[in-house]
Amino acid sequence: MPRYRVNLSTMVFLLILLGATVILFCGWYIKLNPLDCTSSNRKIHVVLLSSWRSGSSFVGQVFGQHPSVFYLMEPAWHVWNKLKNSGAQALRMAVRDLIRSVFHCDFSVTDAYLPQRRNVSSLFMWSHSRALCSPPACSLTPRGHLSNQTQCLQTCDTVGLQEVQEACTSYSHVVLKTVRIFELESLYPLFEDPSLDLRIIHLVRDPRAVVRSREQSAKAFVHDNAVVLEQRNVPAAEVQYQVVQEICRSHVRISERALRKPTPFLKGRYKMVRYEDVARNPLAEISAMYDFVDLDMTHQLEEWIYKLTHGKGKGSLKEAFEITSRNAADVSQAWRTTLPHNKVKRIQQVCEGAMALLGYTTVNSDEEQKRLDIDLLAPREPYRFTWLPQKPEHSGKG
Ligand SMILES: *[C@@H]1O[C@H](CO)[C@@H](O)[C@H](O)[C@H]1NC(C)=O
Ligand SMILES: *[C@@H]1O[C@H](CO)[C@@H](O)[C@H](O)[C@H]1NC(C)=O
Repeated sequence: MPRYRVNLSTMVFLLILLGATVILFCGWYIKLNPLDCTSSNRKIHVVLLSSWRSGSSFVGQVFGQHPSVFYLMEPAWHVWNKLKNSGAQALRMAVRDLIRSVFHCDFSVTDAYLPQRRNVSSLFMWSHSRALCSPPACSLTPRGHLSNQTQCLQTCDTVGLQEVQEACTSYSHVVLKTVRIFELESLYPLFEDPSLDLRIIHLVRDPRAVVRSREQSAKAFVHDNAVVLEQRNVPAAEVQYQVVQEICRSHVRISERALRKPTPFLKGRYKMVRYEDVARNPLAEISAMYDFVDLDMTHQLEEWIYKLTHGKGKGSLKEAFEITSRNAADVSQAWRTTLPHNKVKRIQQVCEGAMALLGYTTVNSDEEQKRLDIDLLAPREPYRFTWLPQKPEHSGKG
């Protein structure tokens, strides 16, 4: 018996020693080679779930430029574009399966949606992905450098899908942005897939600002609106309200699923982010998002984010689809001076529940709307927005 005890404690000691050695080695290895160690152990898969004109291009870029991330902007576009006479409801499983395949770095699924002679330039907005402008996909931008979209478009447009796949497998994180998911349930199988480590970042924005921003490029949304509205026949003047109503409903549906009565596998996998908080305090909010998906902030990214969010002006029409240096906080208030009050009232009606839930205060008069000194953003309540016990954070609005 004593002999057995000695052996057991020796075994335990050896096991602990072995564990410590592995951890030490891995830590040492990560320092030397941040990309390889993590990618061989576990990949992290992120859906940046948002809706149109909610700052998701900007937040997408924040991930797309990160040296550890393989990013794709809106792969679901291919599904909606190919099957444009369907409704969102019918397409959601195809969208889910496309997302799952891309998370597994399997691009064969795109067969169904891409032209016959295809390469990287058949992928929607591919040049927004730094990974597609960097080795092993393309030699233009060394890994760890920021990519220039214009140059990437010119230089890397003939990369084959095989190289895209190889690039994808060489990163520790795969991040996909989409505005085409309106519920979480279709993603449940991905949460339960043991080979995926799925995290959802749900980016929302004040619906009044969303409508104002969508009006600036109304034509671009004709097909998408029809899909969102399930191809229903809706009077032209009503379309924008019904679409924003669907968007608002989805915010409520998703956050209630994730936060109010969550199934266990959602725990720690969902984070809600308000665009306005990002606009007011970009570095802190972006750092928190990086933390949530186990990415490190780099000095280079910090500088880049600062520049991008501290430009001048409200953002012109031409800029509407581009990410440029402008004052992000400014842009998030622009609706208050440009949107007629009767429209604002109508949006507040159709989005009442979502606005209350997300902390967007309603205005009761034209005067109140235009008085920019009245803050319409209620302080966020972190416990409502995320499952993870947050590190002690400065309270109040960032
Ligand atoms: C990207 O490259 C283009 C063409 O070389 C250049 O004109 C532009 O200034 C660059 N953009 C940035 C942000 O560096
Ligand atoms: C890649 O796609 C572009 C645009 O469709 C085309 O011009 C080019 O020839 C393609 N390259 C290859 C190798 O197929």
